[in-house]
This record gives sequence, C-alpha cells and structure tokens, in this order.
Amino acid sequence: MKGSLFTTALYTGQVWVRAGVPCAGLFDCSEARMVHGASTFLMAAGQMFKSDGPQLEPALLQRHRMFDALVEEFEGKVVLELAAGLSPRGSRFSSNEALHYVEVDLAPVLSVKRALMARTVEGQEVALRENLEFVAGDLRSMDLAQLVPAKEPVLVIGEGLFMYLTAAEQRSLWQRIAALVAGRAGSRLAFDLVPACEQAKGGAAGHLLGKVMGAFTGGRGFALDDRTREDLCDDLQQCGFVSPRALAPRDAPESWRVPHLDLPPEQLLFLAEADL
Ligand SMILES: C[S@@+](CC[C@H](N)C(=O)[O-])C[C@H]1O[C@@H](n2cnc3c(N)ncnc32)[C@H](O)[C@@H]1O
Repeated sequence: MKGSLFTTALYTGQVWVRAGVPCAGLFDCSEARMVHGASTFLMAAGQMFKSDGPQLEPALLQRHRMFDALVEEFEGKVVLELAAGLSPRGSRFSSNEALHYVEVDLAPVLSVKRALMARTVEGQEVALRENLEFVAGDLRSMDLAQLVPAKEPVLVIGEGLFMYLTAAEQRSLWQRIAALVAGRAGSRLAFDLVPACEQAKGGAAGHLLGKVMGAFTGGRGFALDDRTREDLCDDLQQCGFVSPRALAPRDAPESWRVPHLDLPPEQLLFLAEADL
C-alpha cells in the first residue's frame, strides 16, 4: 500500500480510535498507531514556531461529528459514504437494520478494512450485516449509478476526500453524484473542504498534514487551487446541485454537539441538495 492515500486513512482512523468514537476500535492496528505517531511528531516539529495555529485533530473531530449528526438527522434509508477508509461510521450506523449503508474506497483499502474486521467477533458480525456493503472503486472515474437502490433518498458523504482531488476531478465526481440523486427528494451531498485561501499560511494544520502525507504517499498531497467557498458553491450548482452552502463548525446547530468550538477553526463542510 506504499505510495497510496491509504496512509491518510490509517492516520484518521487512529484519530477516531484515540477520541473513543464508537466502533473505531474495530480498526485499531499497529500500522495506524505508527503512522499517527510519526505524523504527529512531524507536524509538531513543523509547527514549533506557530503554536497558535489551527490544530488538526480537533478540526478532524469537528468534521467527523458533523457528518455523524447529518446521518443521525437523515430521514431517508440510504447512506453512501465515499472514501470511507477506516472510518467506523458505517459499522456504527448499520446497527440500525432499516438503514442501507454503502461504503466506497479503493480495493486495497477495503481488503485491509475487511481483514481488520475479521480479527474480532464484533467485527465479523458487523461485516456480515446485509445492510452494510463495501464497494471497491476509484471515485475519479467510477460509475455510481448502480451503487444504491433506485428512487430512495440518499445521503452522500465524502469525508476527507475532496482535498486530494483536482478541481476537474471534483467536478467530475459532483456531476456523477448529482446525476445519481437527481429527482430523489431529501437527498443531499455533504463533504469537507477548506479552500486554500482560507487556510492559515505556513502552519496551517491541514496544509502541514498534506505535506507530511505527501511524503508518506509518494507525493500525493493536497490538490490546492484558488477557488473560494463561493466559487465552490457555484461549481456545485453547475454540476447539478441545488442550494449549495458552506457550514462552519461554529454555525452548526447546538444539538450536533460539535467539539472544540473554542479553538481557531480550520474546518468547513459543504452541503448541497438534489435537483428535483
Ligand atoms: C483521509 S482518508 C479519509 C478516510 C475516512 N473518510 C475518514 O475520514 O476517516 C482519505 C481516503 O480517501 C480514499 N481515496 C482517495 N482517493 C480516492 C479515489 N480516487 N477513489 C476512492 N477512494 C479514494 C483513500 O483511499 C482514503 O481511504
């Protein structure tokens, strides 16, 4: 798996473990602990003279909680989680048998995920659930049309994905998601992306992680461009979504219980609705 973005999934998976996110322990492993430890060390060294800059782990936990809240509030029955990596969200929410949960990621990532689940009885039970599906594919070109049952409203989540895609790759994926959910009332796309122009200079947590991950992943760091949040909303609209908007952790409903709101923010979710 060297040279792939799987390293980033190992890192975030370990953040969920350390924060005690439900079911995250299913994906705890020594490789993830090693990646997390080394990344934390390198980022701390990079931020040595910028201790007041945004911190990465709190920002990750903010976004993770916001996506969880969106699943909790979703009134439909189908969740499509893109680039799920070692996220425990599907394992957690598929305990609700009424929910059909589909996780997509690259084939080697899914085989590691399955192997980690096979280690424990709890993991085996989760993996056997009929309402939890793992689908392998490259989201830059994958056909999404058959991934979810026809007509049902779908909540599409892309956590920690879009910063690794170029603007053209993002638009291509948004167009395919918009086509998938078109006409399905109640469907929504949610993803996180902090525009480069909003990232703190130099010490930005996300940017630093991008550099560290670039070193781990054979050069594939963050794909930065100069679009603002308004430009991103325009892009989403042009790709077929309705009412695109950005949501900062501080503006989320109180009932979502977003953590770390006292820290300098470097996190932003985008939400967009299906065109009916
Ligand atoms: C930072 S991790 C996020 C994982 C998970 N969503 C989380 O937040 O814990 C990025 C994930 O995106 C996946 N990914 C990146 N590019 C992809 C692509 N083109 N197709 C499918 N998955 C991709 C990687 O394999 C990895 O699992």
